[in-house]
Amino acid sequence: MKSEMEIDILKILVTEEQIKARIAEMGEELYQRFEGKNPLFLGVLKGSFVFMSDLVRACQVKSDVEFIAVSSYENATASSGRVKIVHDIQQDITGRNLIVVEDILDSGSTLAFLSEYFKTRGAASITIVTLLDKPSRRIKAITADMAGFVVPDEFVVGYGLDYCQQYRNVPYIGVLKPEVYSR
Ligand code: PRP
Repeated sequence: MKSEMEIDILKILVTEEQIKARIAEMGEELYQRFEGKNPLFLGVLKGSFVFMSDLVRACQVKSDVEFIAVSSYENATASSGRVKIVHDIQQDITGRNLIVVEDILDSGSTLAFLSEYFKTRGAASITIVTLLDKPSRRIKAITADMAGFVVPDEFVVGYGLDYCQQYRNVPYIGVLKPEVYSR
């Protein structure tokens, strides 16, 4: 029997196994880059919470974690372009090597805004790590330093990504049936 969320999924784009294998590689690569540098993993909420939790455990470097919550989609399927800080960082990031963790890089508005913001707050370096990269939708000149998977321009949910705040707990990356968001 399909769950009530599975019924709304058109197809699986990235399986749980593929996500797990790729995160293991990313964690290893981050370890090589940041060993001895005491990085700060900075997750961009809400979408990044699932990826963040797996990524930090895949990278056994001495580090700490922090979160910032922003919103620009306001429950629409396309970004409004205006990024709002909903919950700010709770610590001084002056001189820190940041690993900014995102679930998806789409128009680039969020990370363009946040990169500037973290620079003004005194970060020593900013490394952008995203699970998904959707380059076809980019408006801002932002590239990820590390991306898990490049995805086509389809409406993806799961593994932290939502539609109207739901589907974040789907354990894989799926494409939503169009009738769900045209309801
Ligand atoms: C999503 C996602 C990224 C951003 C990417 O966040 O988590 O932060 O959009 O899109 P962009 O590259 O076009 O800026 P959203 O605003 O939907 O909030 P959420 O993380 O709470 O889902």
